[in-house]
Amino acid sequence: MYRNLNAVSIVMGLWAVGAVMAAPANAQTVPRSGEYIFNLSGCESCHTDKKGNGPRLAGGRAFKTDFGTFYSPNITPDPNTGIGLWTYSDFVRAMREGRSPDGSHYFPAFPYTSYTNMDDEDIKALWEYLKRQPAQAQRNKSHDISPPFSWRWLMRFWNVLYLDKGPKPEWPRGRYLAEALSHCHECHTPRGALGGRDDGMAYAGTKRNPEGITVPNITPNKQTGTGKWKKGDFEMLFTIGMLPDGDFVSGAMSESVSHSTSKMTATDREALIEYLLTLPSIKNQVKAKKAPVSGGQEW
Ligand code: HEC
Ligand code: HEC
Repeated sequence: MYRNLNAVSIVMGLWAVGAVMAAPANAQTVPRSGEYIFNLSGCESCHTDKKGNGPRLAGGRAFKTDFGTFYSPNITPDPNTGIGLWTYSDFVRAMREGRSPDGSHYFPAFPYTSYTNMDDEDIKALWEYLKRQPAQAQRNKSHDISPPFSWRWLMRFWNVLYLDKGPKPEWPRGRYLAEALSHCHECHTPRGALGGRDDGMAYAGTKRNPEGITVPNITPNKQTGTGKWKKGDFEMLFTIGMLPDGDFVSGAMSESVSHSTSKMTATDREALIEYLLTLPSIKNQVKAKKAPVSGGQEW
């Protein structure tokens, strides 16, 4: 009798120790390192011209869109060609309002429409991190876009329509990861004629985005979205980039996996998956249905 009781209390004791040891993982404080925020937000891949072997973070990567070609600027601390002379409040204004130190408006090819939702601590940590990166002298290329899309002042009106200024302290962590840092919805939500997100169709995918790519529906719709995916399927995609059918994602999504989802802490990745599972299901057929396998058509 006593022995059993002891066994029970030992088990209970072990359980308690286990719970205490597990606590840091569960009640983990949110990671705040500048490098972590930087990775999850994908700054490096957009601001480095990898194809042209350009210096890290010195800009020059081209983005061909329906509105013209945009080139990312130099965001290293170089005082002449980068952002070395910026103050912290210049940086905050860029991230929260999409405006440059001289007050002009950025184009949403820079996803400030997501970064606006970052909280103050993360913007601060990101700034400190950027300031520590090596300066690279490389002049910015001007965008190759024609009027009216090249008129920055028009962005003031665009922002009234489409910029929902943050921060959003009420958001759950999963939403924060998806819509402040990793900007999943910028790609997975269809856009209207002016290039603004159609948030009524959030995450429902698009046959053709402004960059001309097809982006799948990731709402939990069983026929047209990821409604049949299990948590493990998301986990597999977000850690190694593999889809349930064994293919690996390519292009835009493989970048998102390599700089962002694969670098999340396990707790953050889980929060992201939980968030995706709670999205409203939207029926929107984006991907071509796989051609039916017919006999005699082998290669
Ligand atoms: C999808 C690609 C993309 C991502 C991701 C991205 N940027 Fe940019 N960024 C751009 C483009 C394009 C511009 C130029 C916008 C313009 O000229 O209106 C820009 C502009 C900027 C500017 C203004 C620089 C200047 O000289 O005025 C800063 C600062 C900046 N980005 C920082 C960041 C940081 C920090 C991150 C990560 C949190 C980031 N960007 C992520 C594409 C991107
Ligand atoms: C720069 C654009 C872009 C960003 C940002 C992006 N995605 Fe994707 N995503 C894509 C594209 C394009 C595909 C299709 C890739 C393929 O099949 O090779 C895709 C595929 C997926 C799939 C697989 C869906 C299916 O049916 O095969 C999921 C799930 C997904 N993304 C979730 C996310 C999440 C979560 C984020 C944010 C962490 C994110 N994506 C960020 C463009 C993007």
